[in-house]
Amino acid sequence: MNRDKFSITRPDDWHLHLRDRAALATSVPHSARCFRRAIVMPNLKPPVTSVAAAGEYRERIVQAIPPGGSFEPLMTLYLTDNLPVSEIDLAAREPWLAAVKYYPAGATTNSESGVTAIEKVYPVLARMEEADLPLLLHGEVNDAEIDIFDREAVFIDRILQPLRERFPRLRIVLEHITTREAAQYVTEAPAPIGATITAHHLLYHRSDMLAGGIRPHLYCLPILKRDIHREALRAAATSGNPRFFLGTDSAPHAVTDKETACGCAGIYTAPSALELYAEVFEEEQALDRLEAFAAFHGADFYGMERNSSRVELVREDWTASERFAFSDDEVVPIRAGEKIRWKFAGTGS
Ligand code: DOR
Ligand code: ZN
Repeated sequence: MNRDKFSITRPDDWHLHLRDRAALATSVPHSARCFRRAIVMPNLKPPVTSVAAAGEYRERIVQAIPPGGSFEPLMTLYLTDNLPVSEIDLAAREPWLAAVKYYPAGATTNSESGVTAIEKVYPVLARMEEADLPLLLHGEVNDAEIDIFDREAVFIDRILQPLRERFPRLRIVLEHITTREAAQYVTEAPAPIGATITAHHLLYHRSDMLAGGIRPHLYCLPILKRDIHREALRAAATSGNPRFFLGTDSAPHAVTDKETACGCAGIYTAPSALELYAEVFEEEQALDRLEAFAAFHGADFYGMERNSSRVELVREDWTASERFAFSDDEVVPIRAGEKIRWKFAGTGS
């Protein structure tokens, strides 16, 4: 496919951070412009640890959808050592409550209340397996002994594989995979398992972040790896394998929290995410596989209907904004002030 214009079924974002309150005025329109649905992460302060809190958060998101927009937030519960099993029963009853998110305690932004030892949540996981409620994994060990570049691969051996042996029917998404090992594991493991892949891990490797000056706006977790891993992710995303699907992990932080001595992890990709995926798929000569990755595989994995409307992309250079207003601060998006090759040209039926 070598075109200057094409349309695909409207995509969904299966991993998204919108933040809360005033920040929603920026984050929600950026995602709603082209994504139809999004799985919204629960790592707020305080985290979303009950179905009631998820419902209230969802309402605040809905209020921020621009008039006439059709965007459906699918909510998640934040797994803690103390999440009651009864909360899983409540979650399973709500069609808008899509999954439970596991953060290893302390591994990333607002993960302090995460799980300290996987055994502590076995009863909850057993109930999730019964109820067929998916578990979304931040797949890194948080262990000072383990080098930050190895934390995903070690997670697969130490946590994921034993977890799957114990709960073989539990539906699992290994989120934002960053390594050849993760892509291989997800390809070969018995069902039910899937993985999301971000645009930034397909586009960049660690030297892009660290060579010739440190670029805090490319700092995220799991951290960008060597180029061989980016190549493996590109192969997985463009393979047509239905286990791999789009999840941006778009994660806005105020610029003052990024450009500082100890900056937060997270890359704000929502304003150009679909265009950046298109760039990658074109480079891999796989534009004809973008639709399935972006709009079919995730919906099929979650057992949801595929979207019926469409979006159009045109080959047209545009320059990404330098900044957006963000609560009482600003946020710097990916590619700020730089060229992007594809342009979103609207939704249609
Ligand atoms: O880069 C990241 N940002 N990785 C995460 O796991 C969390 C996210 C955030 O919430 O900022
Ligand atoms: Zn995330």
